[in-house]
Amino acid sequence: MGSSLWTLCLVLSSLASIALCATPRKPIDVQFGRNYYPTWAYDHIKYFNGGSEIQLHLDKYTGTGFQSKGNYLFGHFSMHIKMVPGDSAGTVTAFYLSSQNSEHDEIDFEFLGNRTGQPYILQTNVFSGGKGDKEQRIFLWFDPTKEYHRYSILWNLYQIVFFVDDIPIRVFKNSKDLGVRFPFDQPMKIYNSLWNADDWATRGGLEKTDWSKAPFIAHYKGFHIDGCEASVQAKFCATQGKSWWDQPEFRDLDAAQWRRLRWVRQKYTIYNYCTDRKRYPQLPPECKRDRDI
Ligand SMILES: *[C@@H]1O[C@H](CO)[C@@H](O)[C@H](O)[C@H]1NC(C)=O
Repeated sequence: MGSSLWTLCLVLSSLASIALCATPRKPIDVQFGRNYYPTWAYDHIKYFNGGSEIQLHLDKYTGTGFQSKGNYLFGHFSMHIKMVPGDSAGTVTAFYLSSQNSEHDEIDFEFLGNRTGQPYILQTNVFSGGKGDKEQRIFLWFDPTKEYHRYSILWNLYQIVFFVDDIPIRVFKNSKDLGVRFPFDQPMKIYNSLWNADDWATRGGLEKTDWSKAPFIAHYKGFHIDGCEASVQAKFCATQGKSWWDQPEFRDLDAAQWRRLRWVRQKYTIYNYCTDRKRYPQLPPECKRDRDI
């Protein structure tokens, strides 16, 4: 969305006091080098079309990954990914935000590979102050190895929303009022990686990586980052409260988005820590809000 259109959107929604534009601003595709650099195993990253598209390669020697140049406090981050095709059992493709300290905050997308023809699992998690254990798992409504799909995270002071294309698959509300820590004062970097995790990824570790099928290749493009850049220590950033993602229409999902989230919940959910009574005999406080979905 152009900035003038965006302004019009803001004016209209405040006039009508309804959420007209609750879909995040359209991502702008850029080249890899604009926002990212390789983290490790540089020779396992391949570049195409001047870096507008890249591949990560995993073989029995190593996986690989890349990270954002900047640290961000709130914003909208998205990646187009085409997952490892065929036999991807044992592999994990991850796209996540993380702060770099001991009591760290983290927002995770993890794609767990599978044997040929068997479905991927998308696991999401949120860490605040070093504590995670908030996994949710879904199947996708498409084969993520056939085409690129857009995976994005919207993060502001009110909520963290995970999107697959434009469909919200998870929302983690700021439940500070219920005594739950919410990531709000530690800038995060964005990370992407492909690695071997056959001790747990596929059917709980029963299915091992078949190295005769290596290299395993995941494709990336888009590399969109629209966040408030901050130094690692900064608890605030210059535009805090004034960016598009801080506006009222992004503080909650709109009715159509709630409906879509409910659809994902009903049809595709495999696991939700909020309903795992064995693990949590006492419901984690933030799960009160999860129940209403
Ligand atoms: C892999 O396929 C099996 C059999 O369909 C399924 O039980 C499992 O949830 C799938 N995904 C993963 C990552 O294990």
